Amino acid sequence: MNSLLFCLDGNLALQTGLAARARLQPAACQRWQFPDEESYVRVLSNVQGRDAVVLCSLHRPDTLFIPLCLLMETLRELGARSVGLVAPYLAYMRQDQRFHPGEAVSARLFADLLAPHIDWLVTVDPHLHRIHDLGTLYPVPHRVVHAAPALAAWVASEIAQPLLIGPDSESEQWVSEVARLTKAPFIVLQKVRLGDRKVAVSVPDIERWREHTPVLIDDIISTGRTLIETAGHLQRAGMRPPVALAVHGVYAEHAERDLQAAGIQAFTSNSIPHASNTIDLSELVGQAIEELAP
Ligand code: R5P
Repeated sequence: MNSLLFCLDGNLALQTGLAARARLQPAACQRWQFPDEESYVRVLSNVQGRDAVVLCSLHRPDTLFIPLCLLMETLRELGARSVGLVAPYLAYMRQDQRFHPGEAVSARLFADLLAPHIDWLVTVDPHLHRIHDLGTLYPVPHRVVHAAPALAAWVASEIAQPLLIGPDSESEQWVSEVARLTKAPFIVLQKVRLGDRKVAVSVPDIERWREHTPVLIDDIISTGRTLIETAGHLQRAGMRPPVALAVHGVYAEHAERDLQAAGIQAFTSNSIPHASNTIDLSELVGQAIEELAP
């Protein structure tokens, strides 16, 4: 029998896309916050003896983590045979080491909190930088979906003469793969993070790319500062207005407004529900679920 697919993060477009592609039956649950910010969760579908899958990106992790745990454990209490998690955006992956004495290594500690609740995990391009294998954090059956083929298909169909630009060395894995698939030229810049909301980016001589459309490619748009800083350099170098492409549109604080003010058109995958979603991951995520769901 098909697994039941619950959606906790409001990503109904992805829930519908997944149900159409994988052997999944949409199921219903409710979540809200009480005035004191405690969470209420209710399962509305019969899960007795069924395999359950929960779709929940963790872009607002401190708000979503508790309801996610409440839902997954309630599914078990109500008789679900298994509970898999599809978290297209996995949170707390960037603090993967103790940069300063006394800091919490939240990538590992967050995984320690989440992993015991799940039988298997599917995620999309987690921010694996110093930690290379997701299985060292999440010791459960898992699949890492790579969005690069979907990003490449978008670039190929939408941008006539692209110059792909990775704003920092960490973005090279995405930009080089999109470049390989589209056969477009690419460069990778150097970024220094000066604070949560401050970055400095160095841009090499890019005169010869003046006739190209710069396409900034990154895994995450959080505050947007990385893209805004990069776009400023490109503008001063006389380049065409850039477009930005990111796997995960986290859009923290005023990122959307700030990107608009900087004249940057941003496009994202539907790993996190947002108005900038233009790249559908249902096919790629659906395949990964098919491999893991019982
Ligand atoms: C950092 O290592 C990531 O790859 C992104 O570049 C970063 O998360 C973007 O953050 P922000 O939008 O706040 O500059």
